[in-house]
Amino acid sequence: MDIIVESVHAGYGKAEVLRGLSLRLPERGVLGVLGRNGMGKSTLVRCIAGLNPPTSGRITAGSRDITALEAHERARLGLTTVVQGRGVFPNLTVRENLEMGRIASGRSLPSRLDEVVSYFPRLGERMSQKAGTMSGGEQQMLAIGRGLMTHPKVMLLDEPSDGIMPVLVHQIADILARINRESGLTILIVEQNVPMIFRMTDRCVIIEKGQVVASGTRPELEASNAMHEYLAV
Ligand SMILES: Nc1ncnc2c1ncn2[C@@H]1O[C@H](COP(=O)(O)OP(=O)(O)OP(=O)(O)O)[C@@H](O)[C@H]1O
Ligand SMILES: [Mg+2]
Repeated sequence: MDIIVESVHAGYGKAEVLRGLSLRLPERGVLGVLGRNGMGKSTLVRCIAGLNPPTSGRITAGSRDITALEAHERARLGLTTVVQGRGVFPNLTVRENLEMGRIASGRSLPSRLDEVVSYFPRLGERMSQKAGTMSGGEQQMLAIGRGLMTHPKVMLLDEPSDGIMPVLVHQIADILARINRESGLTILIVEQNVPMIFRMTDRCVIIEKGQVVASGTRPELEASNAMHEYLAV
């Protein structure tokens, strides 16, 4: 399922954050969204997920206009979101968190537990541990695993590298790339961590003040001044 965002405006009350943002996430593709703090990355994710509807513009999934759909309706179409800060249930065990993902999808789905554990063996070793007592990286794996339990077609990830040590960031990036390759999961990943994005994909957009200011492949972006200008790297 591809996602097309067309001229979307969104914000909070009078404060406009997205100012005519457009991008295309191709089916089975991985698109990176880079941008500095406060540029509207999380707002974009929330907009696509249906948690913060746009004031104007259009979002389509497949050939379907989803602009006016509620978050749970988008979820039923196969959209899943891993929010910034992970959002696992700290007092539930790993297994319960994963099962919640399946139940929350609102569909009667076969359990995908074995598959999720094959991607994240660490979760398999910690099934009865309370999620809140796991390390940041383990909680991130759990949040991704819980998303996978809903049998998504598209996964939106909001800064999965946040607060996680580099070696684990690389591991998570490699697992996500593998899931994309093996199951065709379409992925939008918002990050400030440029190496993480480039481990997973060649294609990125850079957003600045709620608009896409640069897009292209890694070599294209590196050849232009965009990385330096908008990301200070
Ligand atoms: N619930 C909210 N109410 C009011 N303003 C908000 C709200 N959430 C975000 N904002 C503002 O919207 C702007 C964009 O925020 P957003 O969270 O989308 O940025 P971001 O690119 O994800 O930043 P970061 O890299 O720090 O996560 C910021 O100026 C922020 O203060
Ligand atoms: Mg954010």
